Amino acid sequence: MSQQRDQFFATLWERYTTLAPQALDIREAFRARGEDVVNDHVAFRTFNRSRFDLKAFSALLAELGYEPFDRYHFAEKRLDALAFRAEDPKAPKVFVSELRREELSPAAQEIIEALLTERPERECTRSSLLEDQAWSPPTEVNYLRLLEESEYAAWLSVMGLTVNHFTLSVNHLTGFKDVAEVNRFLSARGDKLNRAGGEVKGGPSVYLEQSSTIADRKVLTFRCGATREVPTCFYEFALRHPLPSGELFQGFVTQNADRIFESTHLKGS
Ligand code: NI
Repeated sequence: MSQQRDQFFATLWERYTTLAPQALDIREAFRARGEDVVNDHVAFRTFNRSRFDLKAFSALLAELGYEPFDRYHFAEKRLDALAFRAEDPKAPKVFVSELRREELSPAAQEIIEALLTERPERECTRSSLLEDQAWSPPTEVNYLRLLEESEYAAWLSVMGLTVNHFTLSVNHLTGFKDVAEVNRFLSARGDKLNRAGGEVKGGPSVYLEQSSTIADRKVLTFRCGATREVPTCFYEFALRHPLPSGELFQGFVTQNADRIFESTHLKGS
């Protein structure tokens, strides 16, 4: 199982770095300083009440030895999420969120329903996360309609089930004491950081501090033939602090994650 899992993450990283070349470049910059680059977690996004929902992800991740261990809710962004971990502490954690699409307008729900039903033969399998889209992009008009209501829904409509981000573990770095130092290193290189809620999200008081870059972009061809630059994937940085028990906190913090989601927003970036 661990060999399958390693293979899965290696293939996922390859796919991710074609969408977020900045991640490859940043990883190499840390390696050039003699740092060991360890992946803390990866994150996926999906639609609820579909064959690709959290339940389907749970079954798929179970095949790789993962169990859910915590649950989160994001009221404003209309999301629910689960965190998964494997028994092997070296395996990255997995964070999967799903959009409560029934909370969008009927028009937006219809656009999403059309995407989800167009390829009924597509199932939520490991290859749907590694290969091409589970659905094809909407028309540009429909993309913009989704964007008005939910940046998350718009992103998902054009990116499908591809991985949203990988996360560099700051705990494993030897030359950087915290996320602020990592941010200074990145800014000096010219990397653009997500400033929503401040460049550093969280801290020792919530046992997790994080930052992220602004997502790379690609030119997307919509179903109608129109083209437009859309945000793809970003790179995250996480430092886990010890709980009173002495063990490192392994979960996620809703308030931090709420702003990390905004790394793929078009506004303000
Ligand atoms: Ni994350």
